[in-house]
Amino acid sequence: DEYDVKICCMGAGYVGGPTMAVIAKMCPRVRVCVVDLNQKQIDAWNTDELPIYEPGLLDVVKTARGRNLFFSTDISGEIQKADIVFISVNTPTKTQGIGAGRAANIKNCELCARTIAEVSTTDKIVVEKSTVPVRTAEAIRRVLKCNDKGLNFQVLSNPEFLAEGTAIDDLESPDRVLIGGSQSPEGLAAAEKLASVYANWIPRERILTTNLWSSECSKLVANAFLAQRVSSINSISALCESTGADVSEISRAVGMDDRIGKRFLQASVGFGGSCFQKDILNLVYLCETYGLDECAEYWNQVVKMNDYQKKRFSEKMVAKMFNTVTGKKISILGYAFKKDTGDVRETPSMFVVKDLYAEGARIHVYDPQVKREDMWSEMAYTCGISPDTDPKLDAAVTTSPDAYAACEGSHSVAILTEWDEFKTLDYEKIYKSMSKPAFIFDGRNILDHDKLREIGFEVHAIGKPDPNAFDDL
Ligand code: NAD
Ligand code: UDX
Repeated sequence: DEYDVKICCMGAGYVGGPTMAVIAKMCPRVRVCVVDLNQKQIDAWNTDELPIYEPGLLDVVKTARGRNLFFSTDISGEIQKADIVFISVNTPTKTQGIGAGRAANIKNCELCARTIAEVSTTDKIVVEKSTVPVRTAEAIRRVLKCNDKGLNFQVLSNPEFLAEGTAIDDLESPDRVLIGGSQSPEGLAAAEKLASVYANWIPRERILTTNLWSSECSKLVANAFLAQRVSSINSISALCESTGADVSEISRAVGMDDRIGKRFLQASVGFGGSCFQKDILNLVYLCETYGLDECAEYWNQVVKMNDYQKKRFSEKMVAKMFNTVTGKKISILGYAFKKDTGDVRETPSMFVVKDLYAEGARIHVYDPQVKREDMWSEMAYTCGISPDTDPKLDAAVTTSPDAYAACEGSHSVAILTEWDEFKTLDYEKIYKSMSKPAFIFDGRNILDHDKLREIGFEVHAIGKPDPNAFDDL
C-alpha cells in the first residue's frame, strides 16, 4: 500500500504521544498508530485538548493526525498491521514485594510482549522505548519466542532522552538517537530498519548503535549523571547559605570549565519528575542485585541529597517565619516539577505543601497548567494522603485562579517552579496585598532579589546568603 513502514506504539503517554507525533510529522510515508488501554487518554489525543501540555505539540499532532498519525484502542488490530511495535508504557518504581521502593516494575512491558506474541500474524521488530532495568530485552525476547506460530521477533532497545517542556525540540533535533540490538545479522538488519526511519530527519552520525545491554544501561546512566549534577550543586547551595558564597556565582565559575560544562548546574528546591528518582533507584537496585553495594550506595546518595534539599527548604520557611506557620496563609507559585509542563509526578512542590500542611498552614497554590485533581492523585500515590483519607486537606489547600489571588493577604510566597510569568509579576502590588513582614522564598532563583528587598520583602533564596549576615571584605 501507500506506506513504506507501519509503526504501532503501545502507550500514549508523555513519551509515546510526542515521540510518535514527531516521527509521523517527519516521515509522511510511515504510518504511525499510538494505542493505549486507556480510552479517555486516546479520546483526548483525538481532540485539540491533548491529554498532556507540551509547547508546540498540538501543531505537530495537527500536521499529521488523520494523514499518517492515528490514536486508537484497537490494540490487537494495530499490532497485526505493524512492522515495528514500540513499547512505551510506564515502568514505575515497585511499591510492594521484592525491591519495593527501588526496583522498576516491568510488568506493563511484559504484558505488551505477551499481547504481541498472542495477536501477531507476521514477523515484527519490537522496540523497547520504556526505560527498563538492564537485561529486560532478554525477558521480552523469551516471552515473544513462546508464540506457537513460528513467528520471528527481533528485539531492539531505543531509549528516549526527551525532557518534558522541550520535548518537541528534543525530538526534532536530538543530541543522539540510541539503538541497541543483537549483533546477529537479523539483529543488525532490524537496527538498520529502525535507524532508517530516524534518518528521515536526523543526521546519520547522531544515530548510535550498540549492543542491547549498553543501550538499556546508557539510559539509566544518562539520568543518573544529570540528576547527580543537580544534587551536587544543591549540596553546595547549603554550604553557600552558611558561608556567604553565592551558588549562582559558583555555577558560573565552575561551569565555564569546558570539562564540566554549564548546563544542569541550577540550584533548586530539588529535582522532580517521573524519571530521575525512579531511574536512579532502578540503577541502585541493579547494583545491589549484582552484589555491588558500594556502587549502589554511591548513586543512592543522589536521591538522599535531593530529599534533604526538599526538606531543608520547607524547614527554612518555617524557621524564618518565627518557627510557626500555623494558621498562616502561604502562597505557592508553581506546582509542576518544572516549567512548561503540567506534569506533577514527584514534584518538589508536593513535598513542600505536605510539610506546610503538617504545620497547620493555609496553603494557596497557583500553577498555570496543573489541575487540582492531578495534584491530589499524585499526592495520594506518592505521599499516601488525599482529601478522601484526610478531609482537612481539601480545606487547607486552595487552588487559585492567578498569582495575585494566591498572594493576597498571605504571609509568604514560595516560588517552586521557574515559570517565566513569575518573573514579570507586579511585586509592588503583591507586597501591598500581603501581611507584614512579607516573606519570599525563591526556590528557583528566578527573581531579582535586590529589587524585592527594596520593595520591602524579606527574601530567602537557594544558595544565596542573607546579605546582612556576612561582611563583605
Ligand atoms: P505515562 O504514564 O505518561 O504513559 C504510559 C501509558 O502506557 C499510559 O497511558 C498507560 O495507560 C499505557 N499503558 C500501560 N500499560 C499498557 C499496555 N499493556 N498496553 C497499552 N498501553 C499501556 O508514561 P511516560 O511518561 O510516557 O513514560 C513511559 C516510559 O518512558 C517509562 O518507562 C519512562 O521511564 C520512560 N521515559 C519517560 C520520559 C518522560 O519524560 N516522561 C522520558 C524518557 C523516558
Ligand atoms: C529528564 C532528562 O533530562 C531526560 O533526558 C529524560 O529523558 C527524562 O528525564 P525531565 O525529567 O523531563 O527529563 O526534565 P529535566 O529538565 O531533566 O528536569 C528534571 C528536574 O531537575 C526538574 O525538576 C528540574 O527543575 C530539575 N533541575 C534541572 C534542576 O533543579 N536544576 C537543573 O540545573 C536542571
